[in-house]
Amino acid sequence: MFTIKDHIDVQDNHLTIGKADTTELAEKYGTPLYVTNESRIIENFSAYRKAFPDAEIYYAAKANGSLTILRLLARAGAGADVFSYGELYLALLAGIPREKILFNGNSKTDFELQKAVELGIKVSVDSRNELHTLSEFASDCGKTTQIAFRVNPDVSPKTHPKIATGLCSSKFGIPSKEVVKIYQEASELPGISPCGIHCHIGSQILETEPFTEAAQKMMDLVEKIVDIGIDLKFVDMGSGLGIPYNKAEEAPKPHDLANAILPVFREKTQEIGISPKLILEPGRYIVADTTILLTRVNTVKKAARNFVGVDAGFNLLIRPAMYESYHYVLVANKARSAPDETYTIAGPICETGDILAEDRKLPGIVKGDLIAILDAGAYGFSMASQYNGRPRCAEILVKDGDTEIIRSREDIEDLIGKQRIPARLL
Ligand code: LLP
Repeated sequence: MFTIKDHIDVQDNHLTIGKADTTELAEKYGTPLYVTNESRIIENFSAYRKAFPDAEIYYAAKANGSLTILRLLARAGAGADVFSYGELYLALLAGIPREKILFNGNSKTDFELQKAVELGIKVSVDSRNELHTLSEFASDCGKTTQIAFRVNPDVSPKTHPKIATGLCSSKFGIPSKEVVKIYQEASELPGISPCGIHCHIGSQILETEPFTEAAQKMMDLVEKIVDIGIDLKFVDMGSGLGIPYNKAEEAPKPHDLANAILPVFREKTQEIGISPKLILEPGRYIVADTTILLTRVNTVKKAARNFVGVDAGFNLLIRPAMYESYHYVLVANKARSAPDETYTIAGPICETGDILAEDRKLPGIVKGDLIAILDAGAYGFSMASQYNGRPRCAEILVKDGDTEIIRSREDIEDLIGKQRIPARLL
């Protein structure tokens, strides 16, 4: 037996996850199939806990909104970063306490703001317009809503441009130079308690410097805000910690992130004599490596490349098509066999860009083989669609070799369930 990751091994040439044989899982539940290892979620969450013992960890529900995963994290003590009423609903349903939730978003609907007010959820306000709407809603129902402002710190996170969120050109946040003014304004508005500050500079960040730079900029703003009399109860530094999708990549761990930001946070809070709570919002780090996507080979074709056609495409894992992301791939039923060919793994979607993995050295592949795509737990199922008339696949949870379905496979009914043909066309 040799280990690919702590919880992903090979036994008798078959890939295992959480001690379950992936070939048996594919037989039992069908493919495509998302398989999540429960204990890895807890390990990853604990690594954050340990690195930031005094902070609150608000799991970013967008990374993987499975109710079961949210439930496991709720039990482990996590809060949640939610970006829609849907995510808020899921987080509450999973048992995440409302006081440990931050409602984020650059374009929230009135309905969403009203719900936040009603339910007493903290809001990260992204614009002056939103501030005033929220103030109206809160004062109309005689409530006070705790808010942070999402700050745009103008930091380059050195990641894919589509997931860099803290550049001054990005759609997120209040420009740094306007921050003090908007806190002043908020402090004079009814129904609003400005008591936090928030930023998030991007995702899949593989260096710690951008985090330090953002922390410095944030703490400088904290000082200015405190100077005008704002009583800051929390500082939310967002998230963005990357993971090594590619074995050649090195990624910082939560303790490296802690070393990058805690000294800045502690020094400044001590200097100004305040003790706000630190909040972090990890998504990817908590769930990415907990999950694999199993997909069956439909066909093998020698053309411009050696194409392997599988039954999952960007309908189920859009990251390679959308961000040119790399995911480690192996043949689950030949996991230890020597690589002897270069293959390109292509999905079944009617688009040239539907490639899951390019030019990979793998053992000889034939129809019926099982491909495993690693690190698919973050922004995998949560970004899945029914494109090309393909119902979404099932998700299962593994714990010490035992498995349970945590989301059933959709069927054709799910493609048509909400559709209506106008009577005049019947
Ligand atoms: N907080 C906020 C406000 C966010 O916008 C995000 C992610 C997070 C926390 C969690 O960041 P993480 O720990 O996962 O880096 N679909 C892309 C990633 C989009 C990230 C969106 N925001 C991908 O597949 O790489």
